Amino acid sequence: MMGRPKITVVGAGNVGGTTAQRLAEKDIYDVVLVDITEGMPQGKALDISQAGPVCGYSTRVVGTNGYDETAGSSVAVITSGIPRKPGMSRDELLSTNAKIVKSVVSQLVARSPDIILILVTNPLDAMVHVARLVSGLPKSRIIGMGGILDSARMRAFIAAELNVPGPDVQAMVLGGHGDTMVPLPRYTTVKGKPVSDLMPKDKLDAIIQRTRDGGAEIVGLLKTGSAFYAPSASAVDMVEAIHKDEKRVMPCSVLCEGEYGLKNVIVGVPVKIGRGGVEQIVEYELTVHERAALEASANAVRELCAAVDRLMA
Ligand code: NAI
Ligand code: 2OP
Repeated sequence: MMGRPKITVVGAGNVGGTTAQRLAEKDIYDVVLVDITEGMPQGKALDISQAGPVCGYSTRVVGTNGYDETAGSSVAVITSGIPRKPGMSRDELLSTNAKIVKSVVSQLVARSPDIILILVTNPLDAMVHVARLVSGLPKSRIIGMGGILDSARMRAFIAAELNVPGPDVQAMVLGGHGDTMVPLPRYTTVKGKPVSDLMPKDKLDAIIQRTRDGGAEIVGLLKTGSAFYAPSASAVDMVEAIHKDEKRVMPCSVLCEGEYGLKNVIVGVPVKIGRGGVEQIVEYELTVHERAALEASANAVRELCAAVDRLMA
């Protein structure tokens, strides 16, 4: 009998630990949690396992500081790296995390050649580029999580404003996972009704801006780290779409090779996610203005990827 699919989570910090917990609660995977900090992934794995009898799951969760236990993983969620802190430059985050992601990806792929990588570490789109350079995997198996989180924030803000359930709100945020992200109010609906029919323009504009600042708002409140509940939920949503072969359209960071007129750049676009990873980039019709915003965002990602290329040369 085939065992459960093995999901590896690298980085057992806030996002990684919560991702492992959420995966364990699904009760359909084996989970391996990896971190460089001695004892920490082992301790969290034990703790998550011990919640099983109470919560009603029997997921096997293994914590480790190595990679042998990851062999045969179908998916890895990569969260290892430093989060944003006040006063830290983007370049500092980039160079530290690029080195971490480079080493993590090579160790994962060496033991699981058929793996699908879900990148979470920031700066997100540039880390997808690092994974592409290092892994040798097809582009369909290297996917960045950013747009699902950004869209979830927009959905939550709209739900709160209109006093409707969050799941009833659909939103689509494209572009890089950063200041240049591209929320698309034209593709934002509540039970099929365009959001622009449901609230005045100034309210919608304020929600769009709050969505762009969504990560920073939480960093400002937490002071010692960044968001992890909604990020882990978003990463697990991608794992589920892959394993259930859902073919759901989700905004994810992937390599574009001509789609949306974007050539050879990694950026958040709507993709169909199924067992093969990215099965299709779905092209929504965009206005001239929306297309220009997406291009500007792609250009910002290009600059970060060029910095990665210089670091890795
Ligand atoms: P955290 O500091 O709580 O956890 C990071 C973990 O990575 C730490 O436990 C650390 O020991 C581990 N780590 C560092 N180097 C490692 C290595 N070489 N191998 C294995 N583990 C290693 O940080 P948090 O809050 O979990 O965030 C993780 C990353 O995810 C950050 O870069 C953050 O900016 C990013 N992030 C991205 C989001 C997105 O939407 N794409 C959303 C939220 C966070
Ligand atoms: C966020 O958007 C830090 O990228 C992370 O919360």
